[in-house]
Amino acid sequence: MNKTILILGACGQIGTELTLALRQKYGNDQVVASDIRQPEHSELLNGPFEVLDASSASALRSVCEKHEIHTVYHLVAMLSATGEKFPMKAWDLNMQSLLHVLELAREKVIQKLFWPSSIAVFGPTTPKQNTPQQTVMEPSTVYGISKLAGERWCEYYFNKYGVDVRSIRYPGLISWKSQPGGGTTDYAVEIYYKALEEGRYTSFLSAHRALPMMYMDDAIRATIELTEAPIEQVKVRNSYNLAGISFDPTTIAASIEKKIPGFECNCVPDFREEIAASWPESIDDSAAQEDWGWSMDYDLDGMTDAMLRNLRVKLGLS
Ligand code: SER
Repeated sequence: MNKTILILGACGQIGTELTLALRQKYGNDQVVASDIRQPEHSELLNGPFEVLDASSASALRSVCEKHEIHTVYHLVAMLSATGEKFPMKAWDLNMQSLLHVLELAREKVIQKLFWPSSIAVFGPTTPKQNTPQQTVMEPSTVYGISKLAGERWCEYYFNKYGVDVRSIRYPGLISWKSQPGGGTTDYAVEIYYKALEEGRYTSFLSAHRALPMMYMDDAIRATIELTEAPIEQVKVRNSYNLAGISFDPTTIAASIEKKIPGFECNCVPDFREEIAASWPESIDDSAAQEDWGWSMDYDLDGMTDAMLRNLRVKLGLS
């Protein structure tokens, strides 16, 4: 059977790297990249690329039919901080595009779907430490509400129609190739750029505001491993917790300071502090470990090494 893959949101932080990783694995022609805009990274044009508005059901259907798509990685979303500025836009974008793809899967136009959830599904009433797979979920952001609703829809389509949908609750994702935009965890990417460019950084989260984070290489590997796991291993059909690495601005700054002596970080919290305060500090991912064998590679210092090494080259500083 044709196993062509479609990436929705291929120009985004996750989409860029996932497209490149899947093309390396399966060949450029097997992976159709798509986004609402033309790519800035010319690398994304080394295989098929479609300009596609994922909130249009008819446009989505015609791209899936044209390329005989088997698996969709749906990475279109408005993140937490921007979502608080544009609540209705965030809700519409995050929900409509998911429902369109679930419908295509129900109709068997596509055979499999990966859709990301987030630590934002948790809220102030969730246990903050070692947050369990199943627990109280009362998110207080529009982004979190849309992700929690999305999780319920995914499980519903699996139970009701047998749709093979798989999902991960990503921690904050740290990457050098492509930047995040509009998230509460973005400070942990910005800090590496500013450390190299200016030797100092002002964090918009407070000094001891810990959040779960993950280096992009681990996130991409988790995404592909879960999506390709044998079906009987996938026992959670709303979304799997992934723990990642938990740290606060003070701890990441100390990790950077080991490599860039004299690096200074201070903290001037803004509205994102309240969002971060509603999320867990650390996550229990034993279900992912037990069901499909998840194991993380990068710890904080390993991630710092990789970020600084790659950014030095990217920014022409080496
Ligand atoms: N990284 C996301 C955000 O900060 C959380 O999933 O919005």
